[in-house]
Amino acid sequence: VNRPIDSQKQTGGMDLEEFRRLGHEMIEWAAQYLASPEQYAVLPATRPGEVRAALPKAAPEHGESLEQCFEDFQRLIAPNTTHWNHPGFMAYFATSGSPPGILGELLSAVLNVNAMVWRTGPAATELEETVLAWVRDLLGLPANFDGTINDTASSSTLYALAAARESLTDLRLRQSGMTGRELPRLRVYCSEEAHSSVDKAVITLGLGLEGLRRIATRPDFSMDPAALRSAIEEDLQTGVRPMAVVGTVGTTSVTAVDPIPEIAAICREHGIWLHVDAAYGGSAALLPEMRWILAGCEHADSLVVNPHKWMLVPVDLSVLYTCKPELLRAAFSLTPEYLTTPEMLQARNLMDYGISLGRRFRALKLWFVLRVYGAEGLRSMLRRHLQLARQLSDWIDAQPDFERVTDVKFSVVVFRHRPVGLTAEELDRHNLALLDRINATGEVFLSHTRVRGAIALRVALGNQATDERHLDRLYTLLHALSRANRL
Ligand SMILES: Cc1ncc(COP(=O)(O)O)c(C=O)c1O
Repeated sequence: VNRPIDSQKQTGGMDLEEFRRLGHEMIEWAAQYLASPEQYAVLPATRPGEVRAALPKAAPEHGESLEQCFEDFQRLIAPNTTHWNHPGFMAYFATSGSPPGILGELLSAVLNVNAMVWRTGPAATELEETVLAWVRDLLGLPANFDGTINDTASSSTLYALAAARESLTDLRLRQSGMTGRELPRLRVYCSEEAHSSVDKAVITLGLGLEGLRRIATRPDFSMDPAALRSAIEEDLQTGVRPMAVVGTVGTTSVTAVDPIPEIAAICREHGIWLHVDAAYGGSAALLPEMRWILAGCEHADSLVVNPHKWMLVPVDLSVLYTCKPELLRAAFSLTPEYLTTPEMLQARNLMDYGISLGRRFRALKLWFVLRVYGAEGLRSMLRRHLQLARQLSDWIDAQPDFERVTDVKFSVVVFRHRPVGLTAEELDRHNLALLDRINATGEVFLSHTRVRGAIALRVALGNQATDERHLDRLYTLLHALSRANRL
């Protein structure tokens, strides 16, 4: 409904008294939401197209009140949202926004900083440098790892591989490009279990999907270093030029950890760039008892970790670390005259580290989270999730008709229901039907994967509010619905 508001507001925007009043109301709404996200179904019952159908076809010609917008948000948006902040959200990699992170987002919108170059965001630039050094030290990464913030791990991995490509200086790729001349085939290696963002990166960088070689995994789903070595040697013999290896710490499907020390040794021997995708798993290295997961990463050329996955920072915030920032800059730095500044030689310009010129002030929310929780607060959150995953794993192991399909290294448990007498195909269908029934309850949201060809269900614990009560409810649902559901 178009509700005209007075002309002063139409021309001058919202008055600040209204901003203040509605701002307070929205914060009140946010606090109530965070206190009881379970008032909503974690996965809404909405069908594709329903939200669009409820929205006007065109933008309003005359301004409406923010009050009306807020009412519509509560009526139409919140109930038709998948609630990532719901403690029953256990799909994909469950994440958690947190009050300090949310307020950091708010203030970053208030300042509306676009930190392209240092002078357009001195505090944003230097806070980013500072908090990324804090995180680096907390994770036990080497002091020469230089960090920058990106939106997602997909961008971070793309940029890391662009820097790896730039390291092949004799090919003069930045200047001469990849078409219209003879070039060796370039190759990137990752495990069969690596994330699809690596495929997207090689497509984007012009290597094509044939430029990616997926290496076989060992029984624990980690990359087989012997298979990596022979793939590289075979490629070298046929004139293919190895460009980079992507190792993963915490793979998407089953959270496997690739043997980074062995992989790093192979990369060193052949002078190949090593990028580590620790988008999910990396945060666990805040815990001394989990430090082992980043062993060998001190030899990596680059590493991505996503504080928006498991460090209580609201989406989006991914960190790319590299010990070769000059190559990242060589790949992306390009300064048109209007962006030259007197500080260019003394200060960092964030635009030099990726494709986007404009940079959101994301460091603010990370700073608030790190300060409010402290390293200890984050560690206790991580320990709680690891403990919940162990409890769930023990429960699965105690059920004769459920089968855990991998070790639990982090906070993800992968399993399937396995009633006797079903063929492999029937088991797949049975587990997918079980998943649908569980998700239809609106109480928990799980996702699935395929492990060595067979469908499995995934429970990912990563929400701040998830506790034993939610696991108990999950057990009840798994128990009841796996029986109700049998083919
Ligand atoms: C291991 C791993 N790497 C990369 C990604 C991509 O993350 P993003 O959504 O930040 O691009 C994911 C997504 O879950 C992932 O699991």
